[in-house]
Amino acid sequence: MAILINNKDKTYTLTTKNTMYQMKVDELNVLVHTYYGAKMEYMDLHYYSKCNSQPSFSPNPADSIGVCNQYTYGEASQELSCAGIGDFRLNAIGVRNSDGSFGVEPRFVGAEVIKGKYSIKGLPSFYGDEADTLVITLKDKVHDIYFHLYYGVFEEYDLITRSVTVENKTDKSIKLEKALTLTLDLPRGSYDMLNFHGRHMRERMVERTGIKHSQITIESMRGGSSHMQNPFVVVCDKDANEEYGSAWGIALVYSGNFKIAAEKDQWEKTRVVAGINPENFSYEILPNGTFECPEAAMVYSNEGFGNMSRCFHKAIRNNLCRGKYKNTQRPVLINNWEGTYFNFNADKLVSMAHEAKKLGVELFVMDDGWFGKRDDDHSGLGDWTPNEKKLQGTLKNLAERINAEGMKFGIWFEPECISEDSDLYRAHPDYAFKMPDRDPQVSRNQYVLDYSRKEVVDNIYNQLTTVLDSANISYVKWDFNRHISDLYSVALPPEKQGEVYHRYMLGLYDLLERITTKYPDILFESCSGGGGRFDCGMLYYMPQVWTSDNSDAIDRLKIQYGTSFAYPVSTMGAHVSVCPNHQNARVTPLKTRGNVAYFGTYGLELDVTKMTDEEKEEIKRQIVEFKKHYELIQHGEYYRLISPFASDESMYCVWETAKEDGSEALVCAVRYDTDACTPPFYVRVKGLLPNRFYRINGSEKTYLGAALMNLGLELEYDFFTYPSRLYHITLA
Ligand code: GLA
Repeated sequence: MAILINNKDKTYTLTTKNTMYQMKVDELNVLVHTYYGAKMEYMDLHYYSKCNSQPSFSPNPADSIGVCNQYTYGEASQELSCAGIGDFRLNAIGVRNSDGSFGVEPRFVGAEVIKGKYSIKGLPSFYGDEADTLVITLKDKVHDIYFHLYYGVFEEYDLITRSVTVENKTDKSIKLEKALTLTLDLPRGSYDMLNFHGRHMRERMVERTGIKHSQITIESMRGGSSHMQNPFVVVCDKDANEEYGSAWGIALVYSGNFKIAAEKDQWEKTRVVAGINPENFSYEILPNGTFECPEAAMVYSNEGFGNMSRCFHKAIRNNLCRGKYKNTQRPVLINNWEGTYFNFNADKLVSMAHEAKKLGVELFVMDDGWFGKRDDDHSGLGDWTPNEKKLQGTLKNLAERINAEGMKFGIWFEPECISEDSDLYRAHPDYAFKMPDRDPQVSRNQYVLDYSRKEVVDNIYNQLTTVLDSANISYVKWDFNRHISDLYSVALPPEKQGEVYHRYMLGLYDLLERITTKYPDILFESCSGGGGRFDCGMLYYMPQVWTSDNSDAIDRLKIQYGTSFAYPVSTMGAHVSVCPNHQNARVTPLKTRGNVAYFGTYGLELDVTKMTDEEKEEIKRQIVEFKKHYELIQHGEYYRLISPFASDESMYCVWETAKEDGSEALVCAVRYDTDACTPPFYVRVKGLLPNRFYRINGSEKTYLGAALMNLGLELEYDFFTYPSRLYHITLA
């Protein structure tokens, strides 16, 4: 049983295959966290987390006097930490009561177990009938303000999700000024935090920082989860690595402003909080109203980062991504962006499709520039009407021409933005975010639409459905190419402007839900200047994300490696493009570009009509090879073997995918630098059967699984720059 309620001890214990999470109602009726770590037999673990220190300038709750004199919220490991009541650490929930006072003291009311996984109104979340839900209800000691804590337990993947609903049952409005979903108090110890930072074209770089007696904050205030920080962190033992040590992965299922922060307190305990960024956030909850906090998903692993990632990968693939393409094989696509940019017409696209078809490509994607007045990025966003001059006919005609080449047809949209030079802006200038009396900032010459307003979302919904109904469209790339500044909604009064960021997300999620439900056969790919919104929120609606606008195979090693800490290979859009690379001018072998793109969705982004015959043959070979290994790559167990971030003397980045039963594996090794007199190099493979023999790329010689795992697989030496090899390991 995944959820155990022990009424005698007043404990609530969640167990998964390998982990355990426990809470307890303490002597003051406060819900405290006692443990999250490796699975063990049941025991009330409160002896470890109870308050027993000197108060140290932390106040005591009025009802603790004479009951438990040393009790202070400032030390208690509260499951829902709140501001204003003497807990001076990082905390999660801040409530402004109707009388203007700031603070609540949630106390336990009751708990129940529900079959299946809870869902959250208007927000993305993990789903699945195989999960169970625990709901714990707390109530403020004084006011009728309730906190419903939801826990989803996915036993198989060691995944525990959390969400909080705040319910106002008083007869006056209250204001939520902080709505972080998660508080996690970890035992005394020394921890590090891994975060995944970056910028446009350099997303999800791995950084490791010690958690000390100051706050570390990973956040976005950009209105999108952003390239700068990903809403995912790993808190881990100081000495944890890929295979060893405790690692707690925390992912937010949210695509907007977020904050994940950690600190070590004066009692040497570490606290982590995660949720909506409180800056410029406040939300009025009317009498009988509720506010739902976005979901946080956690995986604990006592076998390091690798196992943690594999749990997230499976959970994201099976219990977050939805729709037809969650498990069916996705078509190999070609996108015209780097091939033509804005400079195309229908004949050009059809000629590209014609050549691509011969190589085995299955889907042609027409990127930016097909609509309104859009020959560069200065105009047209908001006017989702096909430019029939450029398309040399209707969109339907073009789709038919592409289909006639034997290819599916896909299309690009940027539905959340608007150009000043557009009919939509001329008709509704108030649809764009803009502060009163202040000229708004432009970014890529465009503004962001006010999706907190239903009429704006409906306008875009109607435009998109008109296009999607007009032609045979099999794929949509959903882009978002600037972040939000000048936030102000003309539809809300001054005191509700703090709601706009979150209302924007609710509007976006509503639109995504409506569109993806109406078109179940369309494959959707999310994008935001590449990987600027690569998060669990978007993955609920779209099973893949364009990982980065940087398509250079060597830069991609770090980008895809960092991304893999949370997100599976099947979600990472990856294309082969031309050399010199358009983003950094690097020249790499075509084979290496293919090998790196295999560990993503694999596609092309170039003008195939300009390729040499030799290059075309190589692409043909790659598509066959990729399809041969499709299942293994997309659904195998993913191992990071050698990091491109470490200054490893091998100068190799190596990753592997293996069948869960150990019968087959594919290792990809890419050399990202070069030297002379290179010694032989071996990499220890994972996930094989120790006592079985294997062949490597069909070799005659066979190798014991244990030897490949303990001594290693020899990486062959190639005397040119940026070589790469695939090693297909099969049972002999
Ligand atoms: C963004 C995307 C690119 C491309 C352009 C089009 O930068 O990440 O892939 O679609 O927009 O303007």
